[in-house]
Amino acid sequence: MRLATNTYLILTILREAGMNDSKRDSPSVSMGDRKSVAIASSSIDLQSTETTMSVLSKAFTGVEAAQLLSSAIKGKTILVTGGTLGGLGAELAATVVKHSPKLVILTARTQAKIDESFEHIRKETPNAPLRSLLLDLSSLSDVRRAAAEVNSYPETVDVLVHSAAVAGIPEHTLTNDGMELHYQTNHIGPFLLTKLLLPKMLSASKPPRILIVGSGAHAMMSSGFDYDDPNDLKPDAKYQSKYPGTKILNTLFSAALARKLGEKVETVSITPGWIASQLSRYLSLETKKKAGFIMEDGSQNPQLGSLQRGTKAYVVGAFDPEVVKTHNGGYLNSNGEVTEPAKFAQGQELEEKMWKMSEESIGEKWDL
Ligand SMILES: NC(=O)c1ccc[n+]([C@@H]2O[C@H](COP(=O)([O-])OP(=O)(O)OC[C@H]3O[C@@H](n4cnc5c(N)ncnc54)[C@H](OP(=O)(O)O)[C@@H]3O)[C@@H](O)[C@H]2O)c1
Repeated sequence: MRLATNTYLILTILREAGMNDSKRDSPSVSMGDRKSVAIASSSIDLQSTETTMSVLSKAFTGVEAAQLLSSAIKGKTILVTGGTLGGLGAELAATVVKHSPKLVILTARTQAKIDESFEHIRKETPNAPLRSLLLDLSSLSDVRRAAAEVNSYPETVDVLVHSAAVAGIPEHTLTNDGMELHYQTNHIGPFLLTKLLLPKMLSASKPPRILIVGSGAHAMMSSGFDYDDPNDLKPDAKYQSKYPGTKILNTLFSAALARKLGEKVETVSITPGWIASQLSRYLSLETKKKAGFIMEDGSQNPQLGSLQRGTKAYVVGAFDPEVVKTHNGGYLNSNGEVTEPAKFAQGQELEEKMWKMSEESIGEKWDL
């Protein structure tokens, strides 16, 4: 275990990336402004599924975007990772169950966490079609077990949402598989899960959708990911950059899937913006204050967006029929708009470096 030399830097990166997102939002509307959300909601025409442009302009939250894209949600089987209550994965599940999906499979690391989320969701949607799946992305064997379980279901997964991630672990930590914890949880686990689920998903009559939740924090790296040292084992490894580094890999992964599979798959990566979730849970009180998650008096920073705001890009990325026609493999900002990622998070050469490194980490080839 190696102590992180600059935990504050990574937290500042997290915060600034989210603030960049909020700057791209309407300047008159704060991401956390619930009053503004209510006003926007009352003006929405809920009659039909609409095109990308009207969803982007009319919806401010995931709830509103889902109302506009309701017919694209109806009848789908949707698997969402990272289903702990208070996070964006659980919020997405709570949002989409109101639009008659066939099934929502929600993952967490313990049954107690799934039960807590289900209880919350069923308070508003008593007949929500929910199924739980235990999944630990930081374990190759657990990902294989969970994937085998999903592949034994009678349904095929239509929409796979990679929401789970970890951030701000204060010490360099290696998993039982010998990988750095952020790297395995945020990228390698999702990479292997996708590999194992994809054959069945591709056998469906329509192309499956894969949403990979990245972060605007990827752009705060001063250089790209170190593909020769994914586990930060070199003595001079920049451990404090680990979370943003894995978010570079998320964006490259979506682009690589689209390039390799073409129209057989629909995929985008997104950033949800700077959102009040559980993501800062591993930070000390002092660091949370320094990084701006909480104010000096201990209250939550009002600049943080709500979970409902954070799921707007999720809903657009997972269900909008237009965005993948024009920008399959693209990257969406927190408003759901196609945006160019940082230079070191795009391009075939880097996608291939990411792919080769990931194959080595999972110990098997993945030819597409
Ligand atoms: N919130 C933001 O400001 C923000 C900004 C940019 C990007 N994002 C991205 O948004 C996504 C959702 O994050 P969030 O804000 O909802 O954070 P969150 O509240 O911390 O949720 C993260 C989820 O990931 C799960 N997870 C962590 N380690 C895992 C593992 N080893 N195996 C399986 N699941 C694991 C957590 O489960 P446990 O409860 O068991 O730990 C939790 O359910 C992430 O990809 C994050 O990078 C968030």
